[in-house]
Amino acid sequence: MNLKDHIRGIPDFPKPGILFYDISPLLAHAEAWQVAIERLADAIRPHKPDLLVGIESRGFLVAAPLALTLGTGFVMVRKHGKLPGDKVAHSYDLEYGTDTIEIQSDAVKPGQRVVVLDDLLATGGTMAAAIRLLQQVGADVRAAAFLIELNFLQGRDRIGVPATSLMAYDE
Ligand code: PRP
Ligand code: MG
Repeated sequence: MNLKDHIRGIPDFPKPGILFYDISPLLAHAEAWQVAIERLADAIRPHKPDLLVGIESRGFLVAAPLALTLGTGFVMVRKHGKLPGDKVAHSYDLEYGTDTIEIQSDAVKPGQRVVVLDDLLATGGTMAAAIRLLQQVGADVRAAAFLIELNFLQGRDRIGVPATSLMAYDE
């Protein structure tokens, strides 16, 4: 099965000149979505994770079903102000300004093996920040995995752990 048949390219979203890769058709197609989760599960299994981490919000869509498939726990990395209780935060630079992500302080035990999931690897800024945050709380980050990777942005060079993606685009 060619999973790219279930990805829709939408020009000029969210800004003129940007081609947005929409995963909605993949999520809506039961068989293709199952294949995608199985392929990611096969790629992640050798890393023997204790936990999968999903990055808000589209990373949750990928990490939660994978955690069930692999029999691991699932942990959320969320945007600032969304998580209750004791948290650890990490701020990172965007094109304009900064952003902050958070995790609950007790979500990962020191030394636990984690694999981090997101839907898309673009510049790598989001994933790099999530990995730094996880390392701050003592996680052993083994790998990062994505549905889609934009090769031309070279995001994998920024994240510092092995990266896996199911679909790559060159423009
Ligand atoms: C998108 C996408 C990734 C990130 C990739 O998330 O889901 O998380 O951008 O970009 P990067 O590699 O350049 O950091 P977005 O912030 O749009 O939010 P969402 O997941 O809540 O839709
Ligand atoms: Mg996102």
